[in-house]
Order: sequence, then structure tokens, then C-alpha cells
Amino acid sequence: MDALIDETSSGLGRVVTCVAPVNIAVVKYWGKTNEDLIIPLNDSISLTLSTEHLRARTTIKTIPQSNDITFELNGVTEKLTKRLSRAIQLCREEAVRQNTATQEVVSAGLTIISDNNFPTAAGLASSAAGFACLVCALQHLYGIQGDVSAIVRQGSGSACRSVFGGFVRWAKGHREDGNDSIARQLFPASHWPELRVLIVVVSDHKKETSSTKGMQTTVETSDLLKFRTEVVVPKRCEDMERAIEKRDFPSFAELTMRDSNQFHATCLDTYPPIFYLNSTSQEILMLCHDYNQKKGAATVAYSFDAGANAFLFTLNKSVPEICGLLQARFGVTDFKGDPVSDFCLHEEHGSSIS
Ligand code: ADP
Ligand code: DP6
Ligand code: CO
Repeated sequence: MDALIDETSSGLGRVVTCVAPVNIAVVKYWGKTNEDLIIPLNDSISLTLSTEHLRARTTIKTIPQSNDITFELNGVTEKLTKRLSRAIQLCREEAVRQNTATQEVVSAGLTIISDNNFPTAAGLASSAAGFACLVCALQHLYGIQGDVSAIVRQGSGSACRSVFGGFVRWAKGHREDGNDSIARQLFPASHWPELRVLIVVVSDHKKETSSTKGMQTTVETSDLLKFRTEVVVPKRCEDMERAIEKRDFPSFAELTMRDSNQFHATCLDTYPPIFYLNSTSQEILMLCHDYNQKKGAATVAYSFDAGANAFLFTLNKSVPEICGLLQARFGVTDFKGDPVSDFCLHEEHGSSIS
């Protein structure tokens, strides 16, 4: 559904609202070759979740009589960061290039209001949902056509994978301008409907080291990162694609856990080291290994982003037993179950206001 630019009502503002999901990487992105353009050191592969439990919602209102841009996140007025300004600027340029919005429309001020229904900056991929959502709203506001993943990428790298549903691969690309560093869908969610993702919220605290800062320091100081990006990840991406293609859960699980572990090993190899996992994360991790050993095959897999919270992967049939195990061990724990989702970025509702 495309928003209509109301050319005739120059005195009126317009409102666009979008909702966007998070995605969880099973082969992780950590490190850039270009900080400004956000070009990654390696390809990454992720699963897009549904918007039922973890989603960003962003409403953008145009203010024709002003040039001001204001941004509110989770009820708090925030400074307009360089990345927010850049995403807005890129969308405006694209709209003018495509001739889908007039100069008058793209120079209007903007009121941007966003909220996440899950902890922000806590390793649950809020930057991914947030920037995918922002660009989606701008895309509809300005009528931009085509793939916006290269613009989304410049807001937050992982966000470009939330543009697509299902199983997604973000290619690092080869161009210096980053224009071929884009995401594409490998398989739709329907390819593997039995696959479930459980989200275990261990901590809702804002992390001490943001992903952006953390990966910068890792690039500067870790020897292990070079080995990971040059030797391990290229093969792992191919193996992961094959495991997903064949719906081979044990292989998918092992690759996912190994990749999460190696990512956290590079954080530990950063100097000074970065610890994203806490003791509860470590307990969850070992619980998965113990369970898999008892089962005689990998039945559940974990993955941790830059934070203490766990994403667990399993097949439908094992969900009750794994939830029972978590409940027995941790008591009341906030875990949410999601299928991989085919959610497609779209406008939630659009209208002209006076
Ligand atoms: P996370 O692990 O949650 O992705 P990051 O350190 O990568 O944590 O990014 C967190 C930052 O992403 C926030 O401080 C904020 O700047 C940005 N962000 C989060 N949610 C949104 C949103 N809904 N809209 C715009 N930006 C957002
Ligand atoms: C551990 O995309 O949040 O979640 O590009 O600097 O905004 P910036 O970082 P971000 O990093 C995500 C890192 C990760 C792994 C992943 O999602 O691939
Ligand atoms: Co992030």
C-alpha cells in the first residue's frame, strides 16, 4: 500500500505510521570496513521475527510550515543523531531523484515518534527494527519505489535485514560506495514453518557498550576478528544456507551456537574486553548443551546478540519441553515464542491531517 502525497493541500501535514520487526542473526555481523556508509566486514544471515512480540512502531508527521525535525523515542525527546539525519537526507534525495515528491514536500519539517514494545539497546535488535521502521515510514511519506535496504543499512547495519521477511542474507558487497551491500531474502518463512524462536528476556538494561562502539573497538584491537571474518564466516555462510535449505535442524543449531560463541569470543578478544553475556546467559547456554546431550542430538540452539538476552531456536514439537525446562530452572521468566515471519514492511495506516 503506497501513501499518497497530497499535492493539493499544501497547508496540511500528512501522517504515516509503520511497524517493523527485529531480526536475529545466526551468522553475525560485527565490524565495518566503512563507518559512515556502514559497510560490513562480512556477510551475515538472519531470521526475521513476527511483530507480535518485538516490534518498532514509528509515526511521522510532516510540518509544512517549518523545517524542524524532532524525534521522540519511547516517550522521550531525543537528539537527532547523525544516523537519523542521514537516513532522512537519503530518503529525501531518493524521492527527488525518483521524482515522487516535490522539493516542497521533502523540505517540510518532520515530527518523528517511535516506540519499541521491548527493551531498547539491550541486545534485542532495537536498532534493526527502529531504522527499518523509520525508513519504511519515510519511504511511504515520500512515495519512494524499490529496494530501500541500502538506505536502511546506513541507519544501522543489521536493520537492512529487517526489510525482508523469512531467512535473509546481507552481502558485504564489493563496491566502495556500498551500493551492492544489500540484503536479500534467501527463503520465505513458509520454507521452514516448524522453526520457532523463543526470546528469553534476561535483562532489560541498556547495554554499557553500544553495538556501534563495541564493534569499532573490536576492529581496532582483536586479532581473532580477522580470522573470523576472512576464514570462518565465508564458509559458515555457505554451510548455514545449505542447512536452512535442507531444513537440517542439527546442522543449523550447531552453526548458530558456534557463531554466537565466536562472536562473543571476539568481544572477549577486544582490548579492553567487552562482556555482553551475564551469568544467567551462561546458564541458559549450558542448559541448551545439557539438553541436547540428553536428547542425543541438537534439539535447541541459542544465540546472543550484543546483550545478555537469549534467542533460542527449536522446532515446534520441542517448545513445551524447553519452556518447562526454563520455567523449572529460572521460575517466572519472560519468554516469548515467535515463528520466523514473512512480515513485509508496510504502512500501517496513512491519512492527511489538518
Ligand atoms: P540493540 O541491541 O537494541 O540493537 P544498539 O546499540 O545496536 O542496540 O542500538 C540501540 C540504538 O538504536 C538506540 O540507542 C537508538 O539510538 C537506536 N534505536 C532503537 N530503537 C529505535 C527506534 N525505534 N527508532 C530509531 N532508532 C532506534
Ligand atoms: C551483534 O547493526 O546494531 O546484533 O551497524 O553500528 O548500528 P550498527 O550495529 P548493529 O550491530 C548488530 C550486531 C549484532 C549482530 C547482527 O545483528 O548481525
Ligand atoms: Co543493534
